[in-house]
Amino acid sequence: MSKKTMRRLLVVGATGQIGSELTLELRKRYGGENVVAAGHRRKPSENLVSTGPFIYLDVTQKDDVEKIVEDYKIDTIYQLATVLSAVGEQNPQLSWNVNMIGLYNILEVAREHNLVRVFWPSSIAAFGPETPRINTPQDTVLIPTTMYGVTKVAGELLCNYYFLRYGLDVRCVRYPGIISSETPPGGGTTDYAVAIFYEAIRKKRYTCFVREDTVLPMMYMPDCIKGAIDIMEADPSQIKHHVGYNVAGVSFSASELAAEIKKYIPEFECEYKPDFRQKIADSWPMSLDDSVAREEWGWKPDHDLASMTKDMIEKLTKRFSESTL
Ligand code: SER
Repeated sequence: MSKKTMRRLLVVGATGQIGSELTLELRKRYGGENVVAAGHRRKPSENLVSTGPFIYLDVTQKDDVEKIVEDYKIDTIYQLATVLSAVGEQNPQLSWNVNMIGLYNILEVAREHNLVRVFWPSSIAAFGPETPRINTPQDTVLIPTTMYGVTKVAGELLCNYYFLRYGLDVRCVRYPGIISSETPPGGGTTDYAVAIFYEAIRKKRYTCFVREDTVLPMMYMPDCIKGAIDIMEADPSQIKHHVGYNVAGVSFSASELAAEIKKYIPEFECEYKPDFRQKIADSWPMSLDDSVAREEWGWKPDHDLASMTKDMIEKLTKRFSESTL
């Protein structure tokens, strides 16, 4: 097998917000049989089980990861299984186990089986209150105050270590909050930017758990998928950083998002009742400088607030009207 060619892929966390859509896109590119989907807690969608192999996997069990890699002759892994920030603050021990032991198992199996490439998403949660919040640079202070963020910084360092020590080609991006219409996120701080669409369309009201002036970096799912695929398909010589690359989509406040939605649903009302997630949001950047990713491997997002909002409303409205038929 050529050391450079990705042929048999495993997506761990394939039933999650990103995994459920990324797996389908990877199957279109590499062939359904060549992209194995592994999920744990959530039930897989019809689409996921009908377009290629699906298996249950607890990423904290290294032997189980190894068995799948051997059985399916995997050469590339997308490791997306994670406990997000808000759930992580309710259960920091679970967050550490899934996020750190899970990543460690993937990297170890990749090393032992000489895999071609690994993708692992870091996050804006890697930053903390001491990080510059506007146009956060690629190389900056990484002192997060959530367990999720701790696992992201430690994970970035671990990925970089496996590259330096073992030559394992691990590639990482620091994703902002991801907005999507297919599969809801599970317990993050940026989840309000997804839930607001569901509630605006179904109930015309939403109670937002962060203040209206809260600005966070966000990204629409098509850009998220494009980033995950582009960085993995880039020539190894282009990838000069094996910690996470900053990748920006669009930054807006909660009230700016509500106002954009109101253009389509004029009767929509949003109220703001900040809870414990406000403190997490306040510790994260408002916008990211992603010039290094743009220069090194050609990163460029396609969506802004207006195009994302339009597409989200169209997709969800169609889905909800079909499901009530
Ligand atoms: N969406 C994530 C969260 O809110 C950030 O990476 O936890």
